Amino acid sequence: MTRKIILDCDPGHDDAIAILLALSSHELEVLGITTVYGNVGLEYTSRNARIMVELAGKTTKVFAGASRPLLRERISAENVHGKSGLEGPVFDEPKLPLEAQHAVQFIIDSIFEHPNEVTLVPVGAFTNIALAMRLEPKIIPLIGEIVVMGGSTTLGNTSPAAEFNILCDPHAASIVFSSGVKLTMFGLNLTHQCLATPDRVAKFKALNSRVGNVTVQLLEFFKLAYNKRYGFAGPALHDPCTIAYLIKPELFTVQNMHVEVDVLPGPSFGRTVCDVWDVTGKPANCDVAMTADADGFFDLLIERLGTLE
Ligand code: RIB
Ligand code: CA
Repeated sequence: MTRKIILDCDPGHDDAIAILLALSSHELEVLGITTVYGNVGLEYTSRNARIMVELAGKTTKVFAGASRPLLRERISAENVHGKSGLEGPVFDEPKLPLEAQHAVQFIIDSIFEHPNEVTLVPVGAFTNIALAMRLEPKIIPLIGEIVVMGGSTTLGNTSPAAEFNILCDPHAASIVFSSGVKLTMFGLNLTHQCLATPDRVAKFKALNSRVGNVTVQLLEFFKLAYNKRYGFAGPALHDPCTIAYLIKPELFTVQNMHVEVDVLPGPSFGRTVCDVWDVTGKPANCDVAMTADADGFFDLLIERLGTLE
């Protein structure tokens, strides 16, 4: 049976590859793609999501959501993704229209239409998910599960303590982590194990397809920030890890633990406080991804993107 998902994203280079993986995988039924501010502003993330749907040769509906966080000021990551959020390849403007319905209402309606069957996959700020939970609390027990890219059991990437998606909107993240919904977290401790190194990029190039070539161009731009800051041989493919997990969970190991988000002002604002050693005795609320079969992950990614033109 296919799994129904809503991918909530802020494309962004890695979001873009996550969209391609989701739309090329028969195990998943993408009910819709919802967009949120994050790497770049909402107008760009909504444009970029439609560009990637068209590149995949699909007509999946795209719904725009929140343009700013619940409480804090908006931050962004043009320094990593460029002004448009998809620097590298040259794209025509998308023809696929943006849906008139707000993303938050689409999320609510989808969950009521498919109770206990929808997996929410937020890979940007969690603002849309939090707003849906606050606007219509009745959906909370009807959400199948939530698989997020965000947080870290170790260091942050946007502050020493906080990962970007969480720091974008710690209050929204706290609502999601404390919701009681079945939750799986792919944090930087995991995603930094999945680097698009030159030998792996060469396999995308060898696809010799428009999708393969665009992916190479995206990765060539995306790697600049990772080479400069971390000295990594390639960029971390954060967001596609969530999709790969839904398709082939055996590529990853997870550990059940208590996770909470620090929402207090200060150097740890936005940190995912992960009780890896169960020192608090607080009830576990999250499966945290701890190890990845990186070669297996990229084999899956290349195989699935190879089915697109
Ligand atoms: O910290 C990495 C995350 O922030 C990824 O989802 C990336 O796309 C950005 O949204
Ligand atoms: Ca993202």
